[in-house]
Amino acid sequence: MDENQKVLSRKPILDALDGKVPESIPIWLMRQAGRYLPEYRKIRKQKKSFLDLCYSPKLAAEITLQPIRRFGFDAAILFSDILVLPDALGQKVWFEEGVGPRLIPVSPRDQLNPAALDNLYNNDKLESVYDAIRIICKDLPASCTLIGFAGGPWTVATYMIEGGTSRGFEKIRHWSVADPTSFEKFMVVLIEATSLHLIGQIEAGVEAIQIFDSHSGILDEEGFEKWIVEPTQKIVAQVRNHFPKVPIIGFPRGAGTNLLSYINQVEVQGVGLDQYVSCKWAAENIQSVLTVQGNLDPIYLLSDIGTLNRKTRETLSHFGGNPYIFNLGHGVIKETDPKTVEFLVKAVRDFEMN
Ligand code: CP3
Repeated sequence: MDENQKVLSRKPILDALDGKVPESIPIWLMRQAGRYLPEYRKIRKQKKSFLDLCYSPKLAAEITLQPIRRFGFDAAILFSDILVLPDALGQKVWFEEGVGPRLIPVSPRDQLNPAALDNLYNNDKLESVYDAIRIICKDLPASCTLIGFAGGPWTVATYMIEGGTSRGFEKIRHWSVADPTSFEKFMVVLIEATSLHLIGQIEAGVEAIQIFDSHSGILDEEGFEKWIVEPTQKIVAQVRNHFPKVPIIGFPRGAGTNLLSYINQVEVQGVGLDQYVSCKWAAENIQSVLTVQGNLDPIYLLSDIGTLNRKTRETLSHFGGNPYIFNLGHGVIKETDPKTVEFLVKAVRDFEMN
């Protein structure tokens, strides 16, 4: 078969991650389930706490499938959150309306105890996430790929140490440079927990996984190697040990030119690009090595249709002829009109390379 010959796909996302070019460009969107959808807001009201929603298998399954029914995306991403992991490890985590996630912060003095991992082996919270996956699998359309996920350990650690969303990330940056030995011990526990959680999701039925390292952009080159590349390599190795074939998408958001180091060292099948990466540069330097996913700025879903159409076609023209999954550079913004998403899906499906 010619290198980039188009294939008729049963599961276009899995084919793209296998280095093939499906007949029509596959599409899914980060945060495709969520507050911009009225059907999500309706279910959201049934639970006061966001984590309770994540731990309700039937509701989480229903929310995962809502955007599939409405838009026909090629992938469903499990409805959950990266912060279920610290919660399952025993840290206090809650979501405050209008504020976002809050956690009782972990400090270098009261490090995460490796014994916390014992919690994970027999944990009702994570079991309910796996139950949601088993329900979704029964209802998933044949061409749709179910993607599971976890946060990258660095990104999850930012929330655990800062106690929530942060501007300057001074606490974690200080700990990681002032006492890298104790910080590494902390990271080792998170690496292990993340690997276990991803393996649990695959055992329950997810067909691909994405590792969200949303805050990799706050590290310099040395920090990026130590706290993004090395931990992700270890997670990939553990997952591969159990499931050699399940494709992995890495998303080191904000990595910039460190993306080169990431794709050369971490054995992922696809890499998510944020909107700050030049499409021309990424097509030449990243897509020449592996499948890319991205990277339309989600803000264009709030602009007029003409601009959205122009920017979408521009992105597609850079990446469309080679192994590629259309996505945004970050999650759907909650003010987005679902009709605009419908337009976007059609624009991607109708696009033809000339
Ligand atoms: O549709 C999907 O993408 C699947 C579900 C999903 C959620 N969070 C649901 C969610 C996924 C993949 C995530 C990942 C996640 N969670 C990340 C990595 C991706 C990124 O956005 O950078 C991060 C950093 C988190 C942590 C988190 N969860 C924050 C910072 C917030 C508050 C900000 C916000 O948008 O409200 C959340 C809450 C959250 N996670 C919501 C949803 C649908 C909103 C909760 C609500 O309904 O009030």
